[in-house]
Amino acid sequence: VPKRIGKNINIALTGASGRMGLAIQELSAAQTFTVTQRIQRSADWRKIKTIDLVIDFSSPEGFREALQWCVQHKVRLLSGTTGLSSSDHKALKQAAKRIPVLYSANMSLGIAVLTRLLEGLAQIKDWDFQIEEVHHRAKKDSPSGTALSLQHKLVQVLGRELPSPLAVRGGGVPGIHQIWAFGPDESLTLQHTAFNRKVFAQGALSGARWLFDKKEPGLYDLSDLYLKP
Ligand SMILES: NC(=O)c1ccc[n+]([C@@H]2O[C@H](COP(=O)([O-])OP(=O)(O)OC[C@H]3O[C@@H](n4cnc5c(N)ncnc54)[C@H](OP(=O)(O)O)[C@@H]3O)[C@@H](O)[C@H]2O)c1
Repeated sequence: VPKRIGKNINIALTGASGRMGLAIQELSAAQTFTVTQRIQRSADWRKIKTIDLVIDFSSPEGFREALQWCVQHKVRLLSGTTGLSSSDHKALKQAAKRIPVLYSANMSLGIAVLTRLLEGLAQIKDWDFQIEEVHHRAKKDSPSGTALSLQHKLVQVLGRELPSPLAVRGGGVPGIHQIWAFGPDESLTLQHTAFNRKVFAQGALSGARWLFDKKEPGLYDLSDLYLKP
């Protein structure tokens, strides 16, 4: 049994019965986290007593409810929910003026590193680019939040618009993301594959511990935690 290190953190977990919710609960027991409240519907917010932090892996609606509750009660929020609208992202920025918020469409170390690697593609900015992602058949949003976030970064690096990411759905794939770069006589492919959901759940818990120690309001992502500037 892994050693429990540090102060216990009481969390409210939205989407507790979902795929990510279950993965987080499986890991949290051994890591000084106590899931004090499982949030599956709006009424569950009324039952919350004392918590240190909210972890949200639910739906855009669940995200909005969590954000509103956290701002009202001045509680830190870690969210990995995707499929958010541009007004949700605006609300996230507004909320981050009042509470510490960590949001990442992908909680894995590999995607944080891949996002940073995209800066190197400025060297081949005239090439053709295409992002492609593969996910399990039950995934609700398309293209994935990760593909959109990689696209956002790549557009910044290249300084021009790109074709929309392609989405493939099937089976139980937790997540594959690929960036194709095509030159006239050669191509370059960057790919990240998540083998299981544990990688996202562990990222979320490491992020939650980091956020728990954060005093200042602000909008953080996993690069703040994983990567050196
Ligand atoms: N950032 C990352 O690293 C990462 C990784 C994987 C997934 N995700 C994202 O995390 C989210 C959840 O993914 P998943 O695969 O766990 O999905 P899932 O299996 O469908 O689980 C979602 C859970 O959220 C619940 N829910 C829906 N609306 C809610 C609300 N208003 N309040 C509270 N709970 C609500 C659902 O309950 P019902 O079944 O009753 O509707 C379900 O239990 C998705 O947006 C997904 O893209 C992010």
